[in-house]
Amino acid sequence: MKKFYLTTAIDYANGHPHIGHAYEKILADVICRTKRLLGYDVHFLTGLDEHGQKVEQTAKDRGISPQMLCDSVAKEFIDMCALLHISYDDYIRTTQPRHRVIVRDILQKLFDKGDIYKAEYTGFYSTRVERFLHEKDKVNGVWPESEFGQINEITEINYFFKLNPHKQWLVDYITTHENFIFPKFRAKQVLEFLKEDINDLCISRPKNRLSWGIELPFDSTYVTYVWFDALINYISAVYFGTEKFSEFWPVDYHVVGKDILVPAHAIYWPIMLHALDLPMPKTLLAHGWWLCSGEKMSKSVGNVIDPLDYAKQFGTDAFRYFVLREMAVGQDSDFSHELFVSRYNNDLGNDLGNLVSRSSHMLQRYCGGIIPKIMTLESPENEVVNLWSTIRNKVLEAYDRLQFHSALESIFIFIGAINKFLEVRAPWKLAKSDHPKDQERLHTALAVCSEAIRLTATILMPVLPTVSQKILEIFQIKMVSWENQLDWSKECLVNRSLAVKSIILFPKIA
Ligand code: MSP
Repeated sequence: MKKFYLTTAIDYANGHPHIGHAYEKILADVICRTKRLLGYDVHFLTGLDEHGQKVEQTAKDRGISPQMLCDSVAKEFIDMCALLHISYDDYIRTTQPRHRVIVRDILQKLFDKGDIYKAEYTGFYSTRVERFLHEKDKVNGVWPESEFGQINEITEINYFFKLNPHKQWLVDYITTHENFIFPKFRAKQVLEFLKEDINDLCISRPKNRLSWGIELPFDSTYVTYVWFDALINYISAVYFGTEKFSEFWPVDYHVVGKDILVPAHAIYWPIMLHALDLPMPKTLLAHGWWLCSGEKMSKSVGNVIDPLDYAKQFGTDAFRYFVLREMAVGQDSDFSHELFVSRYNNDLGNDLGNLVSRSSHMLQRYCGGIIPKIMTLESPENEVVNLWSTIRNKVLEAYDRLQFHSALESIFIFIGAINKFLEVRAPWKLAKSDHPKDQERLHTALAVCSEAIRLTATILMPVLPTVSQKILEIFQIKMVSWENQLDWSKECLVNRSLAVKSIILFPKIA
């Protein structure tokens, strides 16, 4: 079986889940579900980033220990994943011993190789982003307060990881591996960053300033910088240092938001791996940001979208559908309640939901709840059958290219065509006719419609796992793989009895 390994960013343990976290997990989940249905052996990793100053500070403000804070935040994020049906295989927390041991082991290796050195450094430090700032971070000559918060000049002795010796190698790697960064336009941004010298990475924090971190193995008066620790989760979770590791590495996709591509994932991480003589990730997938009325979501503006509210109120699948239908992977998108309601009522309620409920109703009424045989195909039926083969190929290709919004667009074109087919065939009229040919037409039309619905539910499975399952259950079908399941079949449903009398998949929202 072909292996497929995918990771998401690990969320900071100092906040609550919002739509950005939810979207990233859903996107990752859909990719993994698609691969599983295509027969891959998938390993899907997500988790929580638990160290650092912000976590320490938030815990202090609340009067609890950092570990207590992390445990309660972990519960919130794990509950979010459960509600959104995120099919992860492993959830890593950076305070777990399995992670700590490997971070220390890697630090020691790099220290022994001479890639880490100690030096005094004076620089401008932002607590908000927990790092020394570079000249490159300036916008119009200043470090924007909205991004970096309060900045203090500090002089400190710290440990540094050498980046510059690997710079040219990284430039060459990015230039010669066009699938390394997705979408491709982001590679330009990375190369731009690499045009000038890059500062070595400060990978330690003195314990008298921050104690909530992984102690350096070669100096117990320091803890590890949170990003250096966090990035290592991608290998500590998959048995780095053992034979098993090669089953997973190199990873197929690191799914992250565009804000943490440069410098963390596209500069620090590849250089860390290169210094360790490890192969590069196959693809860094940088998705865009969810905005609210064009603005960044923020607690102070009060425009943070709670994904849990939507999933609880309108159903998990409806929320999954909305975020994937609206956002082209890699681009930003604006969340609006009106748009959500319109997609829900129109696409899901009117187009898909009504199709399933009216078809099952007609099958009960005109065929006694048993799927009839497909007899002669005439032109309306042929149109549906032919359209399916085009749509199926388009959708599979779009899934493969991570174009989920256009895959869904194509699927809904097909759903529209089935609805139109029912209008043209008008089974309710055929049922009234005495002509023997019309009885055959009536049965064939409903059988074709059932098969088209089966195929729709099958191909929608990665995005709408619960609803698709419910639809397939109407036909008493259990589906675990796409093998032979996406081909038009004359026989698949014949003589199956419907498991339900009536079904409402998406009750209307007022
Ligand atoms: N802890 C770091 C990641 C370490 S990975 C080794 C972090 N955490 S985060 O909680 O701030 O963000 C987690 C993910 O959510 C990131 O990929 C980030 O880009 C994503 N999002 C946060 N806000 C977002 C939106 N508004 N929209 C879409 N995704 C965004 O960064």
